[in-house]
Amino acid sequence: MNPRCASVLDTPPTAAWPPDVERLRDDFPALRQHVGGRPLAYLDNAATTHRPAAVLAALDRFYRRDNANIHRGVHRLSVRATEAYEGARATVARFLNAARPEEIVFVRGATEAINLVAYSFARPRLRAGDEILVSELEHHANIVPWQLVCEQTGARLRVVPITDAGELRLDSYERLLTERTRLVALTHASNALGTLNPVRQLVALARQHGVPVLLDGAQAVAHVPVDVRALDCDFYVFSGHKVFGPTGIGVLYGKAALLEEMPPWQGGGDMIRTVSFERTTYADPPQRFEAGTPHIAGAIGLAAALDYLRSLDAESLARHEHDLLAYGTARLAALPGVRLLGTAADKVPVISFTIDGVHPHDAGTVLDQLGVAVRAGHHCAQPLMQRLGVPATVRASLAFYNTRTELDALVEGVRRAIEVLR
Ligand code: ALA
Repeated sequence: MNPRCASVLDTPPTAAWPPDVERLRDDFPALRQHVGGRPLAYLDNAATTHRPAAVLAALDRFYRRDNANIHRGVHRLSVRATEAYEGARATVARFLNAARPEEIVFVRGATEAINLVAYSFARPRLRAGDEILVSELEHHANIVPWQLVCEQTGARLRVVPITDAGELRLDSYERLLTERTRLVALTHASNALGTLNPVRQLVALARQHGVPVLLDGAQAVAHVPVDVRALDCDFYVFSGHKVFGPTGIGVLYGKAALLEEMPPWQGGGDMIRTVSFERTTYADPPQRFEAGTPHIAGAIGLAAALDYLRSLDAESLARHEHDLLAYGTARLAALPGVRLLGTAADKVPVISFTIDGVHPHDAGTVLDQLGVAVRAGHHCAQPLMQRLGVPATVRASLAFYNTRTELDALVEGVRRAIEVLR
């Protein structure tokens, strides 16, 4: 087994290798705590990451100094808040290499972004017999919104199968792309297994059939660079809290030409041009999709997180994550009764496993007693669990601030779980 992160090993290390992870950890106040009398080993980053002090400072600064509503006020605070919020949009656009800030819609998270596309883009276009293509790797957030619009329109969901290693079957994908396919909605990286999909190739194949593509980047953005123009995807979504930003803020990137054609999906203040009881006209994107007061501080905090990330050496951190993934995978694989799930060649640093005779939730509880935070369960991917033939797994999901010492604590905890629970 030789998992690798984002092909990072194809190039020699930069001068910034190895990264000073202990110093980077000082940027994250929540990492420096004890749980159950032991140093916290936070290995649940696919559920949510921690925030660096730069993000906490940006939130604090906004609420202490600039707090006001946006796009409305004539007063100074409102102007400052508006500038910071729209500046955050520009930062996100640069982070994704979008053509312009207007292609960035702020939403609550990846889930809301997918629902927006389902209701505003897909539903008006779908007819009975049309198909939406997803895969066995998807999180429920990239399944259920499509099922809802399928129920309403008579369209149906088609599912690309995976191999036993957890990789998409490209032959099946090509076969399932037909003249009935109206949209492809695939994850960039699997939350439950870590599989990194060959998204450029997947988009190119859909393009050949003239099919638009949505990519769910929730689990990818913290690990691999994303360039939506190079990918040529139509929509790209992610959540702020999985990339070191606040909860409750997320991003929908959409190609300008598509967003312009899409009707609003929620009505209210700040998304209109004119309102009368007879007829309302709507603002241009992105305002058209941001009804009501948005999460202003969240957008500003997200921009601070992305600025922080861009200030680090991405290549050496990816190499460090690869090292952790390979180390943790090898150590766990050596334990008797541990079965690793998700052995794709290209992965983000997620290690999912089961332990013979031990329920994942019980293992998670024993690990917590030792200060090791993991997720145990179906990871909001029940169809994937069914495909793998397990009800649940234990999942250790890593970020660049994790260390081999924390993985040693995980391995010690799994040994303990085997001793006490079997
Ligand atoms: N989707 C998040 C996870 O994978 C919550 O844990």
